[in-house]
Amino acid sequence: MNLAKVFSPRNGIDRSICFDYNSGMIKFLTASDLESVCKLANSIYFPDLYESDDKFAQLLAIYPQGQFGFFDSDKLVAYLFSHPWFLDQIVPLDSLVVLPTNPTCYYLHDLAVSSDCRGRGIAKAMYQKALELAGDLPIKLVSIRNDFLGINAHEFWRHLGFVTQSPVYYGNEERVEALVMIRIK
Ligand SMILES: CC(C)(COP(=O)(O)OP(=O)(O)OC[C@H]1O[C@@H](n2cnc3c(N)ncnc32)[C@H](O)[C@@H]1OP(=O)(O)O)[C@@H](O)C(=O)NCCC(=O)NCCS
Repeated sequence: MNLAKVFSPRNGIDRSICFDYNSGMIKFLTASDLESVCKLANSIYFPDLYESDDKFAQLLAIYPQGQFGFFDSDKLVAYLFSHPWFLDQIVPLDSLVVLPTNPTCYYLHDLAVSSDCRGRGIAKAMYQKALELAGDLPIKLVSIRNDFLGINAHEFWRHLGFVTQSPVYYGNEERVEALVMIRIK
């Protein structure tokens, strides 16, 4: 597969480009997927972490090559939203983003896998796609401390080589305990 061709900026997105993986397929997201994205997000997160479809739509509009879905028999079961950003800043939840002209990191805004599809390597496969886009930039994210859901997402990120940069309060009310995490290449 010619990645340079696949990930080069362009006006239109050919959804058929990404690869088959583990009986499903990673594809670029389009506006027609946003309803399924919000439904999946709302099934996983709690209200203080909900984002409007405007946020996801904006990311699709400004940086389509960083937004992926994993489709299992055409059903969206996972998504990853990502874009270039600043190493010293996090992106407040549900806020609109202006992409930097000189990014200092690559930012993973949200990665989520439907609860019945976890443990199949889907998140890792999508993360690998984002790594290709990050190039030599460090990668940054905010991991909520959703220990009470039994997920411990920060352990997942540690497993992938991330370290904690600082604790932070996150969410629409800024009351959710979270960790800012980075991975320097
Ligand atoms: C965290 C999450 C994305 C992991 O998705 P997943 O598809 O089950 O993960 P994968 O199957 O790709 O796992 C990849 C690797 O990470 C490991 N892993 C997965 N979840 C883990 C966890 N909670 N803690 C530690 N390791 C974990 C797997 O064992 C696997 O290891 P391997 O590479 O040695 O085989 C998923 O649980 C999720 O969607 N959680 C809710 C949303 C969320 O918290 N997202 C993170 C936002 S910050």
